[in-house]
Amino acid sequence: MIEGLCTVALNVNSTEYTRVVEPRMLLCDFLRHELGLTGTHVGCEHGVCGACTVLVDGLPVRSCLMFAPQASGHAIETIEGLARDAACWHPLQEAFRQAHALQCGFCTPGILMTMKAFLESNPAPTEHQIREALSGTLCRCTGYQHIVDAVAIAARRMAGPEAKADGSER
Ligand code: FES
Ligand code: FES
Repeated sequence: MIEGLCTVALNVNSTEYTRVVEPRMLLCDFLRHELGLTGTHVGCEHGVCGACTVLVDGLPVRSCLMFAPQASGHAIETIEGLARDAACWHPLQEAFRQAHALQCGFCTPGILMTMKAFLESNPAPTEHQIREALSGTLCRCTGYQHIVDAVAIAARRMAGPEAKADGSER
């Protein structure tokens, strides 16, 4: 191995990847530039906006605040892994479409991943809890009301009889 570089081996959306990178490479840059997973967006680059949020072992993490080598050995979920395929969106994606919860869409991947983890830990949230869970993510377009509505719709669907065991809809 070239001196000063390090090996990163991790699982992203159920696929194993190994790359040799500089130790200072951020996880968001690793996902975007090494793996081509550009659905993870980069906004502020210092942990404020939430646009870069991915799940690390099921928990939301700002990938601009984590070095890629720190993610070695862990399981990462990105927006590309949220829908099983183009014909089977995650209930959150479907609810965002239905409730008009995005405009430019820049914040959307980070919000969807944040809300996925939130609904898994709190399947029947109140509106106040949804707003609190959204408070760490910035959206410059929507005014948030439609996002709150969409998360509530998704929560109802995921808890309802039409939900499958993995959270996806029929
Ligand atoms: S780009 Fe990571 S929090 Fe804004
Ligand atoms: S939809 Fe544009 S920033 Fe949220």
